[in-house]
Amino acid sequence: MRVKIGIIGGSGLDDPDILKNRTEKKVTTIFGDPSDVFIEGEIEGVPCVLLARHGRQHTIMPGNVNYRANIWGLKEQGCTHVIVTTATGSLQEHIHRGDFVIIDSFIDRTQNRKQTFYDGEPNSPIGVCHIPMEPSFCQRTRQIIINTAKELELPFHATGTVVAIQGPRFSSKAESLMFRQWGGHVINMTTVPEVVLAKEAGLCYAAIALATDYDCWKTSGERVCVEDVMSTFKQSIPSIIELITKVVPKIAEEDWDNTITELKNVAKNSVMLPS
Ligand code: ADE
Repeated sequence: MRVKIGIIGGSGLDDPDILKNRTEKKVTTIFGDPSDVFIEGEIEGVPCVLLARHGRQHTIMPGNVNYRANIWGLKEQGCTHVIVTTATGSLQEHIHRGDFVIIDSFIDRTQNRKQTFYDGEPNSPIGVCHIPMEPSFCQRTRQIIINTAKELELPFHATGTVVAIQGPRFSSKAESLMFRQWGGHVINMTTVPEVVLAKEAGLCYAAIALATDYDCWKTSGERVCVEDVMSTFKQSIPSIIELITKVVPKIAEEDWDNTITELKNVAKNSVMLPS
């Protein structure tokens, strides 16, 4: 099977320059419009589709992102994989600003977000879906990212739990301290429901989280602000581009038939059809 890689860029990675032979495609889906146009192109000859999660002008707040349209649209374009970047706050001293975390689990603190394609609406696929969330992320894709980050000598952590909050506000200090006690490593506003929907769609989904700040749990008084998030992310863009540019051809070198069949079976078998 030929792979096609969806790339969802977080705040700051809306730069289509990573793709060769670019074309823009306006897409709509049964769940509405994705966050922006799909930018189709290639990395080392591998077909890719780039999407700015918050729109290219960064106008869509985390709670208003149409995650279903984004994932459904990428699936409809033939993507087998989705690699995403996400700015996160560090909840742990040893995860420094500028470090990457190849997250492997999540704690969901979002509210009222549509987390399933199977919502009983007339246009939705039929049935009720109880998708398993372990493993939440594609282990093979994660491993390729980890190996590549190692090769490039990037500062990274091979595992980590992200706490996904509703936002758009940042956390209070009491919340931040609680998330640390819960075992969170980083915190963001977008992993849920993106990872859930990718799993329902049977996609190989992996996330590259970048620690941009220390949220607000520290006694030293460091407190997250938008300016710090954006400036740290900006500084790391060359590394992110280098990482993704090296990861994509490595994905294309491998045989994914079994993995994709397995993911599709998990997705299919999770749907309870009306009797
Ligand atoms: N994204 C980047 N930093 C964050 C933080 N501290 N909390 C939530 N989302 C974030």
